[in-house]
Amino acid sequence: MDDEVTVYGPDERPTNPQKFATFEEIREFPRELQAEFRKAGFPGPSQIQSYTWPLGLGGKDVIGIAATGSGKTLAFLLPAFVEMANTGFRPGNSGPGLLVMSPTRELVQQTEIEANRFGRCLGMRSVAMYGGAPKRDQMSQYRMGCHCIVACPGRLNDFLEGGQVHLDAVMKLVLDEADRMLDMGFEPQIRKILQRVPRRRHTLFFTATWPREVRKLASEILHNPYKVMIGNRDVLKGNQDIIQTVRVVGEYDKNRAMTDLLHEAGLMRSDSHGKALVFANTKRMCEQLSQSLYRSGCPCSSIHGDKDQIQRDEALNGLKNGRIKVLVATDVAARGLDIKGVGLVVNFDPANNTEDYVHRIGRTGRAGAKGYAITFLTRGDASKARGIIEVMERTKQEIPRELQDLCRSAGGGARGNDRWGRGKGGRDRDRSRSRGKDRGGKSGAGAFGGYDRGFGGGSFDRGGGGGYNNIGHPALGGRSAGYAGGFGDPSGGFGSPACGGAAYGGPPPGGGYGCGMGGGSFRGGGGISGGFSDVNHIPLGKGGGRSRSRDGRRY
Ligand SMILES: Nc1ncnc2c1ncn2[C@@H]1O[C@H](COP(=O)(O)OP(=O)(O)OP(=O)(O)O)[C@@H](O)[C@H]1O
Ligand SMILES: [Mg+2]
Repeated sequence: MDDEVTVYGPDERPTNPQKFATFEEIREFPRELQAEFRKAGFPGPSQIQSYTWPLGLGGKDVIGIAATGSGKTLAFLLPAFVEMANTGFRPGNSGPGLLVMSPTRELVQQTEIEANRFGRCLGMRSVAMYGGAPKRDQMSQYRMGCHCIVACPGRLNDFLEGGQVHLDAVMKLVLDEADRMLDMGFEPQIRKILQRVPRRRHTLFFTATWPREVRKLASEILHNPYKVMIGNRDVLKGNQDIIQTVRVVGEYDKNRAMTDLLHEAGLMRSDSHGKALVFANTKRMCEQLSQSLYRSGCPCSSIHGDKDQIQRDEALNGLKNGRIKVLVATDVAARGLDIKGVGLVVNFDPANNTEDYVHRIGRTGRAGAKGYAITFLTRGDASKARGIIEVMERTKQEIPRELQDLCRSAGGGARGNDRWGRGKGGRDRDRSRSRGKDRGGKSGAGAFGGYDRGFGGGSFDRGGGGGYNNIGHPALGGRSAGYAGGFGDPSGGFGSPACGGAAYGGPPPGGGYGCGMGGGSFRGGGGISGGFSDVNHIPLGKGGGRSRSRDGRRY
């Protein structure tokens, strides 16, 4: 749980915020909604929900900044739903009362599912609008009357220009992944949409990263906003439930390093319990890697902008329902996606900027579960080492020696100044760019067993007790309980305190990844030293060639 919570008032000074500690104390939340929380097994509001719900319900504009996987979706959906339910809002020709905009089709679909899951009990109807799927179906749902539209800006603009959709009744407007929505790619489309939304409205921005570059533009759109910051998000850091590391690999050994890693993680088998998301920087690399892994027997698929929507949906659903164990993706999957059971994120290519790094690794370690993020760096990626080290240090990660060496080889790795890895166009881009080639030496494989057990155990679905604590449920469990439950014991699911206690004693160091992490401590005993030291055991590749990477400057 992030200790540091700051709520700034419209004058940008810290204020004494109102906060909801339990669901039950929120009088505005009807019985049906309370029942829905119980059904979901949520023990209480997450921190971002605790602090932003009072503001949202009070009709204030809000910028909500909190770690990946911390429950921001319900933080922005529920105040609008409750207000519409309590005022008897009826959708008609003027359109919905809530408009949510998100950067990718998959995130739009996911948010619509969450909106219907928690909104239906209040009579709220939500519809998703995104490209690549038939307009006809989306329109027919809209015409049936909807309280909420969740949309990608491109498709929504198409509908607005065609006069098919109206936004005259919007009283709450949400930009999810707000920094991404305000960056160059989406800004013009957002501005067009804003012209169609009533000026008298509440505007809510949510994100895990809030770079300075977008703040001025945000202030033009928001009206006297409150800013809720869970943890110090003025600096870039990952969710603290994610254990991050870096492997230095030779450029030509990356594929082998990848299969070695997946073997270690037990993810080359279709009966594995774990799941991994692997990021590559280009659509082509994504496709190539996925095919080569598939040929090696790995149950995997890929998702990127050159696939049609049916293929994209099929790939993502495959990972969700466990048909495949590994999904290779471009940055189209970097933001917002909440896929249960993903215990491992691999940056096969390093992210283009530190924000993207934070979002990518944030696909694991969600809602209090624990996760691992492993980034491959070649000699040619040395300029990115500094940025990664900085992000890692902020959550007290162990910095592998080979990463320190790599950073030094880039002249101390002076801080990159262009964090924005923007691509060009607007909608739903992969934001990928071609990577330069460099020559690297050979690297060996890390050897450790039991990895799959660890990953398999981290399932949110099988929730128990203590693991939720890091989403901000002070009532439940300690950190160690979460770790132990999540990783130490596959059957322990989300981590009961008892399970934590049992695993805490820990297996001997080196006794396997899953068991090692089950030790419940980052630093001591059977904790990270047991699991992770082995991961970092790979000999440093003897890189030699010059990097032709265009985005070396981006960290
Ligand atoms: N109060 C809660 N208690 C437990 N789990 C919750 C709670 N609220 C939401 N969740 C669950 O937590 C998971 C992560 O939530 P969500 O996707 O909203 O995270 P996020 O903060 O938007 O992350 P990202 O920055 O990656 O978009 C979801 O599965 C959601 O259902
Ligand atoms: Mg989100």
